[in-house]
Amino acid sequence: MNIPQPILQVSELTMAYGDIVIQSGLTFTVNRGDIFVVMGGSGCGKSTLLRHMVGLKAPFKGTVSYEGVSLWEASETDRAGLLRKMGVLYQGGALWSSMTIAENISVPLEAYTPLNRREISEMVSLKLALVGLTGFEEYYPSEISGGMRKRAGLARAIALDPEILFIDEPSSGLDPVNASLMDDLIMELRDSLGSTVVMVTHELASIFAVGNNSVFLDADRKTMIAHGDPDELLRGCSDPAVQAFLRRQGKYVHEKSGIEPLER
Ligand SMILES: Nc1ncnc2c1ncn2[C@@H]1O[C@H](COP(=O)(O)OP(=O)(O)OP(=O)(O)O)[C@@H](O)[C@H]1O
Ligand SMILES: [Mg+2]
Repeated sequence: MNIPQPILQVSELTMAYGDIVIQSGLTFTVNRGDIFVVMGGSGCGKSTLLRHMVGLKAPFKGTVSYEGVSLWEASETDRAGLLRKMGVLYQGGALWSSMTIAENISVPLEAYTPLNRREISEMVSLKLALVGLTGFEEYYPSEISGGMRKRAGLARAIALDPEILFIDEPSSGLDPVNASLMDDLIMELRDSLGSTVVMVTHELASIFAVGNNSVFLDADRKTMIAHGDPDELLRGCSDPAVQAFLRRQGKYVHEKSGIEPLER
């Protein structure tokens, strides 16, 4: 087994909007090559945690560090360098509707690389090929399906070959077949880009299919109550809330989900 190489460390993080604390006492490590799942029920703070990890929101307390450099205490230059290593697909996908798919993916390339128009166009086609959208350059987001829009969003998130890719609810709103194709695509991208993936989701099928590491946020206790390999949590975590979530029981029965896991 390879020795884990930490890439991202969250330490004693408290997250708040104004003086309303959403979660506190978050401490965990994401290792290089992980597909790290942030899980928990609706409204527990998953997207908020992602916003802290990508530098959009400052901790109320605690730190988020990349390879030992704290995102919020770094110099302006170091911080920009760290942000440049990240790719993000936000919840909802959010492509610019007035731009073609190619124009959407070109935006980060034009902003952050010295590539000329022809090189950018080649790069866009390469990224579209990686997500299975060859030939859709000139389509507008409204002209393609929801699943294709998610994949186009992923193509934009990987435009700059991120070391670490953050994805918020990639399969929500997709039917089980497309949700499972999205899981396969995320694993392929992790392998082909050699990157690390942090994925926010409450879809059980995705959690077990792709996650090798995780953190579980509890909305009631406002803190993390488990972390580690989701399969091991299912087998070995005694916390009733974690078991209820992973088996879709109790208050989690009505959480939307893909295919339920079979006998485990
Ligand atoms: N901009 C904001 N200002 C104030 N409160 C907010 C803001 N964004 C989110 N919240 C609150 O913070 C809590 C966590 O929200 P967040 O969106 O992080 O949850 P989530 O786990 O991603 O939920 P979902 O599963 O529905 O996507 C919720 O109670 C939400 O109402
Ligand atoms: Mg969310």
